[in-house]
Amino acid sequence: MATAEHIKSLIRSHCDNDRERFFAIALQVAAHEAKQGHAAAAHDIRALVDNARTTPRKVIPFNREFSDLILAATPSYRVSDIILPDEKRQRIDRVVHEYRKQDKLRKHGLSNRRKILLAGPPGTGKTMTASVLAGELKLPLYTILMDKLVTKFMGETSAKLRQIFDIIRVQCGVYLFDEFDAIGAERGRGNDVGEMRRVLNAFLQLIEQDDSDGLIVAATNNAAILDQALFRRFDDILYYGLPSSSEVQNLVANRLGSFRPKKMSQVELVKAANGLSHAEIGQACDDAIKNAILSDNKSVTATSLKNMLKERRAAYGQPSNTSRT
Ligand SMILES: Nc1ncnc2c1ncn2[C@@H]1O[C@H](COP(=O)(O)OP(=O)(O)O)[C@@H](O)[C@H]1O
Ligand SMILES: [Mg+2]
Repeated sequence: MATAEHIKSLIRSHCDNDRERFFAIALQVAAHEAKQGHAAAAHDIRALVDNARTTPRKVIPFNREFSDLILAATPSYRVSDIILPDEKRQRIDRVVHEYRKQDKLRKHGLSNRRKILLAGPPGTGKTMTASVLAGELKLPLYTILMDKLVTKFMGETSAKLRQIFDIIRVQCGVYLFDEFDAIGAERGRGNDVGEMRRVLNAFLQLIEQDDSDGLIVAATNNAAILDQALFRRFDDILYYGLPSSSEVQNLVANRLGSFRPKKMSQVELVKAANGLSHAEIGQACDDAIKNAILSDNKSVTATSLKNMLKERRAAYGQPSNTSRT
């Protein structure tokens, strides 16, 4: 039987909504049972914990007030789905690993890294990274629609943000503040710049004060807003960039799958994809696949793929697309 101490700890962690601690104590009970010679009971408890750990947490719907401000999803992405330099992949692995071992860290007065800032050009995998983290940790992904928050609640944006952080405290998940700088950069729409600055500062303060169990991921395409004040609020900052030559090759191979052309010069492929983001290369691959299907071919041709990549690149020659850096 579990000791009274174990039961008290289980109740405490349940009331605190601390799932990882709850599991850790359950495993202590299993060890205790094994020591008493109750191997079957120990086995059953471990199996229950393993099972619960690998079952994704349920997405809890929000009430009407928040349901159109926060999108809920259950992603099933894994780290292996995303093409990234090894160094970045290791840092994502580290966030996952520390989350899983948070109890062990806590015993030494340390906490797992859980406030992550992602910065880099569009289409390089920032939003996807938040999905990967949620997929790996079996947590729901909650995306906060920042621009909606600002336009809908102008004047009370800070108050709404505070309410969202109240939700974060009680509802564990990966919370993605995508393109969060939207709240600081609404100058063009006739909004009060001073008010926007205040909202951005309030947001950063809320992040700093947050000590919930979930992950907070903030993503921005705008590296110019990054400054020291921002950095110290986060446990980790990851910079994203356009894919390297080998990443282009991996990305295309992954995306084309069985539609890969029989012969294709990798040098020419890399050249054709020069300057394009992961997302654009992915779209060019999809276009080439569609082409193959509609022409009743089992694989794409190297020429078709190159043309699709060229088409994507040509878009930047147009005056309407000169904003890309
Ligand atoms: N690093 C990557 N590896 C694999 N696919 C990617 C990567 N980056 C982007 N993609 C593809 O492009 C899509 C859009 O990327 P996204 O993560 O939304 O970009 P960002 O948030 O940086 O603008 C993804 O859903 C995925 O299909
Ligand atoms: Mg994004």
